[in-house]
Amino acid sequence: MRVFSNSVYMALVVAMCILVLLFVGCEGEKGAQGPAGLDGDPGTANCITCHNDDTDIVARVGQWENSVHATGGNFERNSGSCAGCHTSEGFVGANADHPSPIGCFTCHTPHTSYDFTLRTTAAVDLNMGGTYDKGESNLCANCHQARTLSPAVTDTTRILSKRYGPHHGPQANMLAGDGGYEFAGYSYPNSAHTNAVDDGCIECHMAEPYGAQAGGHTMNLTYLYHGHDEDLVDGCNVEDCHDSPELEEFNRDGTMDDIDALLDELRTALMANGLLDDEDYAIPDTLNTRTKAEAGSIYNFKFVLEDRSHGIHNTNYAEALLQSSIDELAK
Ligand code: HEC
Ligand code: HEC
Ligand code: HEC
Ligand code: HEC
Ligand code: HEC
Repeated sequence: MRVFSNSVYMALVVAMCILVLLFVGCEGEKGAQGPAGLDGDPGTANCITCHNDDTDIVARVGQWENSVHATGGNFERNSGSCAGCHTSEGFVGANADHPSPIGCFTCHTPHTSYDFTLRTTAAVDLNMGGTYDKGESNLCANCHQARTLSPAVTDTTRILSKRYGPHHGPQANMLAGDGGYEFAGYSYPNSAHTNAVDDGCIECHMAEPYGAQAGGHTMNLTYLYHGHDEDLVDGCNVEDCHDSPELEEFNRDGTMDDIDALLDELRTALMANGLLDDEDYAIPDTLNTRTKAEAGSIYNFKFVLEDRSHGIHNTNYAEALLQSSIDELAK
């Protein structure tokens, strides 16, 4: 049964078309123009170079999630003198009401350059003197370096804080062989890593990753393998380094044990002299000052301890700092 005649039907169709046109014509106010794409490309084309079905970023995110940068938790150190190294925003110089840990946007500028350019690769003038200049790892040296020692070591050093020392990460200084306290009359040679490892930190810590446990963006050097810790030696066993014979572990010929033994010897001497407590903190003294031998030895102890590589970063330098401190304290 036909409900509408042809002409009524046509009239309805026309009316509907007008309604549709009316609504379409009735646009709201236009939003602001989005950012222009690079080189005149539509904006999303840039996004898709990274946000696509490729799993390159997924893999890096997975590694990063297991890095101490992500898990360490010390990014709540958000005050003026700490944030520069402890929060992403502090490093970048942005507003930091809501600090976030060191992550993709700390080291890269993906939403500014639309690629993975590193935020900085400039050589770093270290707080404690000397320059760190090892390619892409210059990025790391901005943070992984000693803080300015206060007060400096003199013959009348007044140590007022138990935290006297370089502060937790003097790795760039150690690798460069600069910034320990060098007593007059001793020599402080460097090991091969100082000059042979052109790209510094990343050659070892960002070596070919083992899953998401070590290497790559985890920056860790050990991984669990069948229930025991295994060293990631891939960064070591490369041409012109330890390719023959290959290294099987970091503690080659007991190097790390030797440095730890010297560290223990210095610890014992410092404690015997009332300079160090049993938690490895300096013992402050508001009344008396410390001599160069005393303050310099405390500093060198903390420098090697907090470098945390047990001498791997620069065995000769670590050994010379520890031995000269032991000798000076014994005088
Ligand atoms: C050079 C690679 C790259 C390009 C190009 C890129 N992004 Fe991203 N984007 C990332 C990375 C890396 C992350 C953080 C890791 C993650 O969350 O997967 C991210 C995260 C994001 C997030 C999550 C929120 C955030 O900030 O963490 C959004 C939303 C986003 N991107 C949108 C865009 C848009 C829109 C574009 C294009 C205008 C774009 N991205 C272009 C790499 C890129
Ligand atoms: C913005 C400052 C900053 C930069 C840049 C940076 N780090 Fe870190 N790194 C830190 C801080 C801070 C920690 C400790 C994080 C915590 O405990 O919450 C850390 C932790 C680490 C650790 C783990 C130490 C541990 O406890 O096991 C390694 C390894 C490391 N960084 C290597 C690197 C390397 C390699 C680079 C360069 C590719 C780099 N870092 C760049 C600040 C930085
Ligand atoms: C020059 C950069 C720099 C500055 C400035 C800095 N830190 Fe750190 N801090 C680091 C790095 C790098 C590490 C990680 C070192 C490592 O794991 O070997 C670290 C580690 C730490 C840790 C973890 C130690 C541990 O044993 O887990 C604490 C706590 C800490 N910092 C507190 C502070 C506080 C508080 C301030 C400000 C008063 C501060 N830091 C300023 C670079 C810095
Ligand atoms: C602590 C600094 C740091 C952080 C945090 C970091 N990266 Fe990187 N990233 C580097 C360095 C250094 C390189 C160069 C490594 C190399 O050449 O071996 C690199 C390389 C890359 C590359 C390869 C780029 C190329 O041109 O081949 C990608 C992709 C990448 N990072 C993604 C990410 C993503 C995604 C995140 C966050 C989950 C992230 N990175 C976090 C330091 C960092
Ligand atoms: C020649 C290889 C090599 C270079 C270069 C190197 N490291 Fe290491 N690093 C090591 C080894 C090996 C250890 C000791 C790992 C262990 O205890 O098992 C270590 C230990 C560390 C630790 C203590 C936490 C950990 O992962 O064991 C930090 C933090 C660290 N390095 C950061 C750096 C930074 C920052 C640089 C650059 C300034 C750097 N390293 C350069 C090999 C290297």
